[in-house]
Amino acid sequence: MVGSDKSVSSKVEDCEEIALQTVGDSRGFLTVMNFGAEIPFEIQRVYFLHHVPAGESRGQHAHRSMKQVLVCVSGSVEISLFDGLNSRKIILDSPTRGLYIPPMIWRGLSNFSNSCVVLSVVSNIYDEEDYIRDLVDFVAAAK
Ligand code: TYD
Repeated sequence: MVGSDKSVSSKVEDCEEIALQTVGDSRGFLTVMNFGAEIPFEIQRVYFLHHVPAGESRGQHAHRSMKQVLVCVSGSVEISLFDGLNSRKIILDSPTRGLYIPPMIWRGLSNFSNSCVVLSVVSNIYDEEDYIRDLVDFVAAAK
């Protein structure tokens, strides 16, 4: 279930794609994320990845408690998810779709298209202590 409070372990199936409310007319489109509706946690921070050089990858870590929604607001990107046992890949290529990632999911972002921008809406302020950056440590902690 989106937003279920799992601080110890999560499964890749808990990473859910979220349809974002989009209003459009001849002037273009407006997409909205509401806390408590599309975003299943209180938002404490927003940041975005941009100007990622071709062939580069980002992520390659997990968070102990942070919840996140990713939206590829421009271009496309491949998200690799791993829960310590199972893995899954999701292509984000629409500004009207978000991806919810619960805590304790190892994630990698790769295959950024030219001019890709990935918005990240998260539940925690920045805290390096919340990161697990070593895959072996993550697999041990995810058990
Ligand atoms: P990181 O989360 O590792 O980025 P990515 O997963 O996209 O590769 O962060 C990259 C660097 O930026 C790292 O030195 C920590 C810093 N950083 C902040 O200072 N504040 C933030 O809110 C974030 C997300 C990162």
